[in-house]
Amino acid sequence: MFNNKILINILSEMADVIKENRGLLTDLDQAIGDGDHGINLDRGFSALKESLDSLKDKDCASILNSAAMVFISKVGGASGPLYGTAFMRAGKEIAGKENITGEDAINMFNAAIEGIMKRGKSDKGDKTMLDTLIPAFEAFKSAIENGDDFESISEKTLEAAKEGLEYTKTIAARKGRANYLGERSIGHQDPGATSSYLMLKVIADVLAKEL
Ligand SMILES: Nc1ncnc2c1ncn2[C@@H]1O[C@H](COP(=O)(O)OP(=O)(O)OP(=O)(O)O)[C@@H](O)[C@H]1O
Ligand SMILES: [Mg+2]
Repeated sequence: MFNNKILINILSEMADVIKENRGLLTDLDQAIGDGDHGINLDRGFSALKESLDSLKDKDCASILNSAAMVFISKVGGASGPLYGTAFMRAGKEIAGKENITGEDAINMFNAAIEGIMKRGKSDKGDKTMLDTLIPAFEAFKSAIENGDDFESISEKTLEAAKEGLEYTKTIAARKGRANYLGERSIGHQDPGATSSYLMLKVIADVLAKEL
């Protein structure tokens, strides 16, 4: 499915897409949080992008571990440690491996979600990034296990992610700063669920070009 070169491309492209959407993410966070989500993630991804050149000969697990360190140290807020944990846990699943298979990707995605849930003490339905990631993971896993081709796996995963993202508009937040708004957070799309969707879309787009 991918190797270290493709992983570097994915992270580099994520940095560009987050920068392009910095304003959108910040506006969404302004509505139900403190308005720093786009700024936080752009800071982390910009620092990560600068370090990518020095990581190009490392294996995928080391690259993800370095990405995790950057996120935990540079991003701050709730999302930095959560995305950092996700990268770290995903990397642990593929320690020492060079070619990452579909089965590895399932394990990575699952571990990333478990890491976020544990660190955030959160679950599906709390109006967070997990509302994008969990449905996307479920669709991804069943499409791979079903033997779908890449296009179908990617389509089903992004469709489930988008549905999850839209769902965040309909529910009240139970975690993070948005939780203080309670019912008043209904009607607003969650910023973290949005950044997660953007990242998944980058993974799908880069893999579509590489495969
Ligand atoms: N406990 C949690 N579990 C999972 N995701 C969370 C949790 N808390 C916040 N988030 C996600 O983080 C996003 C906010 O990230 P941001 O970078 O703005 O950090 P922050 O301002 O410290 O967050 P917050 O104010 O929500 O604590 C939310 O939109 C949500 O998706
Ligand atoms: Mg915020």
